[in-house]
Amino acid sequence: MIIPHEIIEEIKFRNDIETVIGSFVNLKRSGANAKGLCPFHSEKTPSFHVYLANQSFYCFGCGASGDVITFTMKMENLDYMSAVRLLASRSGVSLPEGTERVSSKEVGRQRILDMNKAAAKFFHNCLLDEELGKPGREYIVKNRGLSQSVIKHFGIGYAPKDFGALHKHLRSLGFTDEEMITGFLCARSQKNNSVYDVYRERVMFPIIDVTGNVIAFGGRRIDGIKENKYINTNDTPAFKKSKNLFALNFAKNNANDFMILCEGYMDVIALHASGFENAVATLGTAITPEQARMFARYTKKVIISYDNDEPGQKAADKAFKLLQEVGIDVRILKSDGEGVKDPDEYIKKYGKEKFTALLNNSKSKFEFEQERILSGYNLTNMDDKVKALKELCQAISNYPSEVERELYARKIATQFEIPVESVNRDVNSIIKRRNSAQKKKETAEIYRKTSMIGDRINRESASNVNGNKIEEAILGMMMLFPQHLEICVKQLSANDFVTSLSKRIFESICAVYKECNKFDIGYIQNDFSVDEISRISKMIIERQQLSLNDDKTLQDLISSLKDVANKKEDSTSLDSILRAINNKKPK
Ligand code: CTP
Ligand code: MN
Repeated sequence: MIIPHEIIEEIKFRNDIETVIGSFVNLKRSGANAKGLCPFHSEKTPSFHVYLANQSFYCFGCGASGDVITFTMKMENLDYMSAVRLLASRSGVSLPEGTERVSSKEVGRQRILDMNKAAAKFFHNCLLDEELGKPGREYIVKNRGLSQSVIKHFGIGYAPKDFGALHKHLRSLGFTDEEMITGFLCARSQKNNSVYDVYRERVMFPIIDVTGNVIAFGGRRIDGIKENKYINTNDTPAFKKSKNLFALNFAKNNANDFMILCEGYMDVIALHASGFENAVATLGTAITPEQARMFARYTKKVIISYDNDEPGQKAADKAFKLLQEVGIDVRILKSDGEGVKDPDEYIKKYGKEKFTALLNNSKSKFEFEQERILSGYNLTNMDDKVKALKELCQAISNYPSEVERELYARKIATQFEIPVESVNRDVNSIIKRRNSAQKKKETAEIYRKTSMIGDRINRESASNVNGNKIEEAILGMMMLFPQHLEICVKQLSANDFVTSLSKRIFESICAVYKECNKFDIGYIQNDFSVDEISRISKMIIERQQLSLNDDKTLQDLISSLKDVANKKEDSTSLDSILRAINNKKPK
């Protein structure tokens, strides 16, 4: 289904690319453009550029590029129409009738959300059911001490013992086996092909997103056995565990000052129950860069409150790094106490005032490091003192915030009774050395990707590298300059192009040109995959960065392309003659 070009333009006009991308990426203006750390791959130095003049983006690291629609597709994991619809509704553009129709992928998502909501209600009712819910209540109320209001607040439920309780219920509401299996609520038995409930005899925690959809579940077993303590929803069309957080639906409204990051559902629930409604947890996995970026959207400061054991502290270290990388002020809190291993147990044993004190005393990572480093040296010894200082400067250099580094440098300078300038000088030279090594590494990586792996998007380019360069240059100029567009449409035909991707692009551009006498990448998005659109934007942007864009250059390119195309035909015909001869040979 086609959306009229004017509407696409209106949507793009109202959704300024810098604002849209800025809500995910920390962008810094440089001149008329902006740049930041690419949200589509991991990097330490920014190579993600946003071009304000033509409202496009391009990452020199991974090649991701496009316009605000492409960005939304990639970032929110949507197809073209859904991205357009989202941007339209956000900016108050109404789409023409008929385009409201939902694509098949979206039906899947909405069906799963509807089904999850029904399942959450079912589980909750089971927990409240006098007979059916007894084992669940025994565990969650008696053993874990949750009150009725907390149970209601979180929509906690119970999945009964029966293999088909939920299945039967969802079936009666019209959900199909396929939907239940895709939604990870049911599974198909290998033995007799029957469909059964995934969650049985478990206390159920619904995971709710910031718009109030039930997107997934975590189910805890209640028999005290450690194995498979939790079952969590796998990724479904409505859920990606790496991109969501438990209780974010509540915490986002209480995140002004800071947020608390815990390991477990039970920790979060205990904290909320005691009034710390800014606590969240990851969903059965270690924190991901995407989740770190989510925190950055809601708060400036995160206090990590993981389990006290060694794995917990290791995980805290990892979380610390990821959160710090997105510019968050990170603290670490340890719920130390007799027989206490996590915040849930701490707050139950010592109460919320004590926990508040822990929050207030949560240490910066630097304080932890400082203690660790200093404890390893004998500071009355000169040699040791120098070594400790070196290690401290190294530690300080790891902080991306200049303000923070200055603060720590002063602290160290005072402690060692030396001028702060000399601490700063050491720190800065460490940073400089590291940055240049990093840059080298990333450049080498880009080079490796583009030269060795070959071209994943346009596989045919490898067999005619030169021809592909020429055709991409021409396409770039066509898309960029109206006068070149006109010339090319007149002088070239799809057959002049050497790869089928370029042929398709050319045809698409011509079709748009014939219809409205101009071109914008938004007009052809529907005809191409996200990767292909990235490639197309790259052609435009690469061309933009060259000053060689005059008519003469274009004519040279056109005649070279025709030469290449002719030669190619010769070789193919020779090729086909040889092949024909070979085929005739008797075996
Ligand atoms: N987890 C999991 N599978 C397991 C154990 C843990 O998916 N077998 C995930 C769950 O998301 C859990 C988190 O890791 O919430 C932290 O684990 P843990 O601290 O053991 O769980 P708690 O939520 O604290 O649960 P409880 O206190 O009931 O043991
Ligand atoms: Mn626990």
